[in-house]
Amino acid sequence: MKDITTKEDIALIVRAFYKKATIDPLIGHFFTTVKEINWNEHIPLITSFWENILLGGTDYKGGAMFKHIQLNRLSPMERGHFERWLALWGQTVKELYAGPTADEAIRRADSIAGIMQFKVSGGR
Ligand code: HEM
Repeated sequence: MKDITTKEDIALIVRAFYKKATIDPLIGHFFTTVKEINWNEHIPLITSFWENILLGGTDYKGGAMFKHIQLNRLSPMERGHFERWLALWGQTVKELYAGPTADEAIRRADSIAGIMQFKVSGGR
């Protein structure tokens, strides 16, 4: 298996991840009923978010934390939701790629989710 090296590699992971996430019994509703995601915009957005982190692209404008603070107000995001999100992300990355950048994708998701969980709950 090869490592993540291009934006297309990331797009593949992102598409495969949302295929799982949107039908997941625990977190699927965030993407379907809590928010109605425009996938034609969301997939490229998330792809550039990860490109920025993993490959040093500069397209992503930021603001992800605030989006989740708003999301949490619409429907509370709990520890179990973050755990499922991370499990699906890790599973998807490992299904498709292997190497230092793939490991980094999993590690960074872990740390961002930790910060995000802290921020959405206001530090509680
Ligand atoms: C329980 C876990 C999570 C759920 C249910 C969730 C759900 C969502 C939803 C519904 C949106 C769209 C929000 C909107 O457009 O208003 C969104 C946006 C986004 N999410 Fe998450 N998310 C979770 C965790 C994460 C994590 C851990 C990361 C990063 C590692 C992440 C990265 C992003 C990014 C980059 C956006 C786009 C923000 C923007 O508009 O710029 N999410 N998420």
